[in-house]
Amino acid sequence: MSTWLDQVFCEDALAGLHRIPDGSIDLILTDPPYNLGKDYGNASDQQPVDDFLAWTEQWVDAALPKLKENGSLYVFTTWRSAPEIFVMLKRRMTMINEIIWDRRVPSMGGTVRSFTSVHDTIGFFVRRKDYYFNLDAVRIPYDAETKKARSRSIFVGAKWLEQGYNPKDLWSVSRLHRQHAERVDHPTQKPLEIIERMVKASCPPGGVVLDLFMGSGTTAVAARNTGRHFTGFELNPDYCRILAERLDQLAVEPQEPDPKVRPKRPASPPAAGQQGSDPKARAKGRVRAADPGSDPGFLVTPPAAPARKRATRKPKSKVVAAPTSVDSPE
Ligand SMILES: C[S@@+](CC[C@H](N)C(=O)[O-])C[C@H]1O[C@@H](n2cnc3c(N)ncnc32)[C@H](O)[C@@H]1O
Repeated sequence: MSTWLDQVFCEDALAGLHRIPDGSIDLILTDPPYNLGKDYGNASDQQPVDDFLAWTEQWVDAALPKLKENGSLYVFTTWRSAPEIFVMLKRRMTMINEIIWDRRVPSMGGTVRSFTSVHDTIGFFVRRKDYYFNLDAVRIPYDAETKKARSRSIFVGAKWLEQGYNPKDLWSVSRLHRQHAERVDHPTQKPLEIIERMVKASCPPGGVVLDLFMGSGTTAVAARNTGRHFTGFELNPDYCRILAERLDQLAVEPQEPDPKVRPKRPASPPAAGQQGSDPKARAKGRVRAADPGSDPGFLVTPPAAPARKRATRKPKSKVVAAPTSVDSPE
């Protein structure tokens, strides 16, 4: 049995990357600290700029050998660091896209000395020309009205009309608010909708996605939802517990973005190391906490077949929008 596949290691990514064999990863999809001063329970987002850029270069150089020759890399960043990070990556790879994630932040006042920043910048890079990319897996269906408007004979049987359109490089998807079913307790959790799009486009079914900075585990959940394997790291043990819970819950009730419903959650999260002794979890074989002294990984079962069932529970709490601030990617 593999010691690294479908596991998230609760440790420093740079210290743990040796666990992953070279050339074994189809897609590096990662959302590192942005250096905007966010509090992840560690100092990773609060470094002097030069240190931050040097550290970024360090993890890139440690991670790239893990990628297959036809693999891809997606990296989240902000307009502040994107120029330096993209130039550094372009010395190593070919840049395919700069994707703008419009977080759909409502107008609520804020800065008066600049234009409010409401987007994340995502770089999409590859190693070789024959990189894996499946546009058909992520096309967006045309609505009935648009199809009707294209009903003239010249459009009849048009493949593109039936298959849907290219999502383009501007992705307008709401950041997660408290009422979103998938929302958990992480300050910069990404919506499954955008992560799943990247996974489906750039990792073949059954392939492996690596995220060095898992946070709440969105990449792992997206991989499992879409029938891919995952591996990765997260430094903060609280987030490791959250992501283990998300994966555990997925085995029972697959997640999907749906703002109207909230999935069932345990009354209180299990403490580190307790999941392995939970007889129910052990019986189902879904989550096993490793010995924290020797192996910090949370071992989870191989991916379940992709299933897209909806949760049915209504949200308990009142809808409260998270406050908006400048440069605050989620
Ligand atoms: C931007 S967040 C990732 C959010 C994630 N995409 C999600 O949807 O929840 C970055 C994460 O990297 C973690 N981190 C920072 N430095 C790290 C390191 N050296 N190794 C592993 N994780 C690290 C932080 O604790 C934080 O949770």
